Amino acid sequence: MIEVQELTRVFGELTAVDAISFTVNPGEMYGLLGPNGSGKSTTMRMILGLLKPTSGTAIVLGHDIRTDSVAAKRVMGYVPEEPNLPDSLTGWEYINYVADIWRIPRGSGRDKEIEELLQLLDIYDASNDLISTYSKGMSRKTSLVAALIHKPRILILDEVQAGIDPKGAATIKEILNGLRSRGATILLSTHVLEIAERMCDRIGIIDHGKLIAEGTMDSLRQQAKGLSSLEDIFLSLTGGPDMQQIARFLEEVGGE
Ligand SMILES: Nc1ncnc2c1ncn2[C@@H]1O[C@H](COP(=O)(O)OP(=O)(O)OP(=O)(O)O)[C@@H](O)[C@H]1O
Ligand SMILES: [Mg+2]
Repeated sequence: MIEVQELTRVFGELTAVDAISFTVNPGEMYGLLGPNGSGKSTTMRMILGLLKPTSGTAIVLGHDIRTDSVAAKRVMGYVPEEPNLPDSLTGWEYINYVADIWRIPRGSGRDKEIEELLQLLDIYDASNDLISTYSKGMSRKTSLVAALIHKPRILILDEVQAGIDPKGAATIKEILNGLRSRGATILLSTHVLEIAERMCDRIGIIDHGKLIAEGTMDSLRQQAKGLSSLEDIFLSLTGGPDMQQIARFLEEVGGE
């Protein structure tokens, strides 16, 4: 369970996250949606203890991130928006390095588990290549394996599906569903509304650092009366494209 309580982060003049509160229940998959720069990654990084809140806090499986951050970190797995993995290691070396940090006993059991995950995500064959040679999708998949290796009860995934091929995306979805049914609590962000709609039990929509709507798809539909698709609900809440400005631009660009 993750309880986010009035979490706030100020950068200079900007309040990037503005007194956000929400709860992700045990065994729930919660999707954070919002425009670029709305505060999703900043919220996640505060929950993870990677960024200090200006005020407010989050309680992760009973551990307050402000006072009990080591215990909180121990129960969480994280796939960042930009994985930034060490270029000079192979995928296999990196995952084993992370497994060592978590003090997972070395041996055939651990090797087998890592191999299975790499196989599932179709990156086993590349696991002895240097990470510097990996594509974006391969790095993200490697980062996901590393995040799962200590069997965290809480998973925080920042656009984990971005740049992943369709088979990989379907595999990740099945892995996450499986983990959820075994009791994992999952907070993810995505710009792919279809992913949010299909995978998440509840969705929170964030704009300018504030949670502006929250609920199951059905309750969001009721909140945005008459709108049925998540895309329409999202655009009605956060603003759609400026068609007049687009038309002006296209006129200026000209053409035949
Ligand atoms: N370290 C930082 N210093 C200053 N401003 C920051 C910092 N990190 C984030 N911001 C600002 O905070 C706001 C929220 O950023 P954040 O990365 O949380 O957005 P996001 O919702 O994850 O966006 P995206 O969908 O593009 O990933 C943005 O305006 C961003 O410029
Ligand atoms: Mg982000």
